Amino acid sequence: MLSLASVIVGLVGAASVLGAPVKRATQNITDVSVLQYALTLEHIENAFYISGLTKYDDKAFLDAGFPAWVRGRIQQVGDHETDHVAFLTAALEANGAIAPQACNYSYPYTDVTSFVTMSASIEGVGTAAYLGSAHYLTSKTNVNAAGSILATEARQAAWLASAANKGSPWDTEFQTPLDPSGVYSIASQFIVDGSCPSTNPPLFVKPFPAATVTPATPTPGSQITVSIPTGYAGPSNSSTPLYMAYYSGLNIYSSEIAENGTSTIPEGLVGVVFAAVVCEEPSTVNPPTDDTTLSGLVNWDFGVPSNARQIFNTTIPPYN
Ligand SMILES: *[C@@H]1O[C@H](CO)[C@@H](O)[C@H](O)[C@H]1NC(C)=O
Ligand SMILES: *[C@@H]1O[C@H](CO)[C@@H](O)[C@H](O)[C@H]1NC(C)=O
Ligand SMILES: *[C@@H]1O[C@H](CO)[C@@H](O)[C@H](O)[C@H]1NC(C)=O
Ligand SMILES: *[C@@H]1O[C@H](CO)[C@@H](O)[C@H](O)[C@H]1NC(C)=O
Ligand SMILES: *[C@@H]1O[C@H](CO)[C@@H](O)[C@H](O)[C@H]1NC(C)=O
Repeated sequence: MLSLASVIVGLVGAASVLGAPVKRATQNITDVSVLQYALTLEHIENAFYISGLTKYDDKAFLDAGFPAWVRGRIQQVGDHETDHVAFLTAALEANGAIAPQACNYSYPYTDVTSFVTMSASIEGVGTAAYLGSAHYLTSKTNVNAAGSILATEARQAAWLASAANKGSPWDTEFQTPLDPSGVYSIASQFIVDGSCPSTNPPLFVKPFPAATVTPATPTPGSQITVSIPTGYAGPSNSSTPLYMAYYSGLNIYSSEIAENGTSTIPEGLVGVVFAAVVCEEPSTVNPPTDDTTLSGLVNWDFGVPSNARQIFNTTIPPYN
């Protein structure tokens, strides 16, 4: 077992992906604070498509092996995000609440291919975000609106993952919900430090340091090495073993982290799986909370190609 004190220091770049600091709300969660959180995420999505589509034209997509209809559809996805921003802004202002404004963003894609890959990932996180926060809403109108956006983001994620990226359109029989702090640990990596308008309201999320996991693209059943930055003010009881918590559909899986920082990803995980370092053995009935979570989420895709034939969890050769 691994105690916090002996967590191996992240060697490369851990500090550079911690994400922008966040003003943390202390008041109770309300419909307004959920909509402010949702709008914060929509700004990140909206600016992502504007940046990539400004940079890469039809010819750039063609040169990267994507037919023109891929760029055309992504333009439509981006337009939907612009509409979500306008919709949530109007809903908040109609309530007399502050609508968060856009910050400056920096995205790690480096070419058309990584932009298209990242777009699937962004929509997947957006879907998990709406699913994981809808239960905080009390107004039926807001539940309906959030559900409507959730369904659109899920369809966009499926199209991007499958038609555009030739991967799996879905993960398991249940979509994975993610708590706001976990989502924000991914999303905040794209916010330029100090670039958010000071008038933006605090969010009800807890910031977590990034976990460094090697190899970066492991497979289920394989061994990984995990680290989080030292000096992080988590629980300090050195006899506490640490675990990886794996979020897949409505289930939470776990593996203990050994003293040397290694852990074994459970067999049988499929599709997009999120994982974090936690200090209490997690399970579906005892899910991690902000108080037992020690790191931000990492995000893996254990999906199969879009043309694979999948029988239960066995992949057999593709159709022609
Ligand atoms: C938060 O909710 C609790 C329980 O409903 C209530 O007792 C408390 O006064 C609320 N706090 C604020 C700041 O509204
Ligand atoms: C944000 O972007 C604007 C416009 O490009 C720029 O003027 C400003 O300096 C940026 N602010 C930060 C903090 O990066
Ligand atoms: C540390 O954890 C152990 C095992 O859960 C417990 O017995 C002990 O009291 C804890 N110590 C502190 C200082 O919290
Ligand atoms: C780390 O510890 C685990 C469990 O004790 C062991 O199986 C594994 O071989 C060790 N790995 C390294 C690289 O030392
Ligand atoms: C699915 O995977 C689990 C875990 O690896 C295994 O026990 C089970 O036999 C597999 N089922 C099928 C139908 O292959």
